[in-house]
Amino acid sequence: MEDYNTLDDFSLENKTVLLRVDFNMPLDKNTLDILDTTRIERALPTIKELIQKQAKTIILAHQGRQGSWDFIPLDRHAKALRNLLGKEVKYVNDIYRENAKNAIKNMQNGDVLFLGNVRAFSGETKKKSPEEHAQSELVQNLYPLADLFVNDAFAAAHRSQCSLVGFTAVLPSCAGRLMERELETLGEIIEDPEKPSIFLFGGAKFSDVIVTIEHLLENKTADKIILTGLPANAFLKAEGVNLGDKNEEMLAKEGTPKNYDEIKKLLAKYKDSIYLPLDFAQQKNTDRSEIDVSELPTNYNLYDIGEKTIESYKNILSDAKTVFLSGPCGVFENPAFMKGTKELFTFVANSDVFSIVGGGHTVAAVEQLGLDNKISHISTGGGSLEKFMMGEKLPVVEALKKAKNKAF
Ligand code: 3PG
Ligand code: MG
Repeated sequence: MEDYNTLDDFSLENKTVLLRVDFNMPLDKNTLDILDTTRIERALPTIKELIQKQAKTIILAHQGRQGSWDFIPLDRHAKALRNLLGKEVKYVNDIYRENAKNAIKNMQNGDVLFLGNVRAFSGETKKKSPEEHAQSELVQNLYPLADLFVNDAFAAAHRSQCSLVGFTAVLPSCAGRLMERELETLGEIIEDPEKPSIFLFGGAKFSDVIVTIEHLLENKTADKIILTGLPANAFLKAEGVNLGDKNEEMLAKEGTPKNYDEIKKLLAKYKDSIYLPLDFAQQKNTDRSEIDVSELPTNYNLYDIGEKTIESYKNILSDAKTVFLSGPCGVFENPAFMKGTKELFTFVANSDVFSIVGGGHTVAAVEQLGLDNKISHISTGGGSLEKFMMGEKLPVVEALKKAKNKAF
């Protein structure tokens, strides 16, 4: 029994539902076209269920941040949703003034209405409590027109923003199907993963990863940590390995001297649980050439893990029952350096472990490799997933829990 409501707790027929989704999309910088509709596809079960149960569905969403190039109205998003649903989706470029309110009043059962970018409202991104946000113009104008608030925006669950938490203080509220699935699946992985559980970290950032690894090992969520990408380079440097100027420069852009002290402490405590590469692939001219860690430093960029590392990591992964993939193993966009990511991700996808993938670049790598159907759970979360893995409370989830115990 969840400590928040779900769609199962309400009768939806003839109800007017405010549905908050996270359709914050990667856009083409020139055309502003949506490049990937994954987040819309993942919210379809909730939207289809609301339509099928003859609710009136009003969609609230954001794109970009005020002042950024990708802060645009949501007509493209509404169109993409219409194409995926195969059903009329009306768009009004207004959030809570007359145009929006009139469009809501004109809705029939089973209709879907898409409102304007909620971040056009200046109060949206203020960090306030649900009760404070409930006093905003946005909530005060919309909530009297609705019967229920449904939040399906797991990818924004770490934000305490107006349209994400404000309605929960004044309307009966519940999690949508995507939110429910993310919280259930990820919650199990964090609290009680089937053992042994192995977390693989890669990608081009390492400062945040240090605390995450410490948390995962301390709480015994992870039995083993496998490092690739920039985190691997940083951990080797902390162990005293000289990687060569080019690679040290890349590290210097991302981390601080303090990070290396943190890594040293982490390694002192958990050396046996953290695995580092034995070799790398470096870029000599445009070619891939392999180099052992013992042969470092090098004048070339280290862009992937080497073959010995791939084999030894596969060996370690073959014992796992749960595997979490966070970040590609190298510069996978370049075919010459895709090998580590391709081999390890394919190995995990084809084994019968429970596999979880999170974060934009990792999901993109999985999709590019055509492995998305073989991964047990692909999270839509980026920042929210990181916070969740750290055991931090997510404001959106806290607000939904509070709403469950409230009489409206
Ligand atoms: C995201 O894509 O990270 C979420 O939609 C939250 O957006 P934000 O990082 O701009 O707050
Ligand atoms: Mg973000």
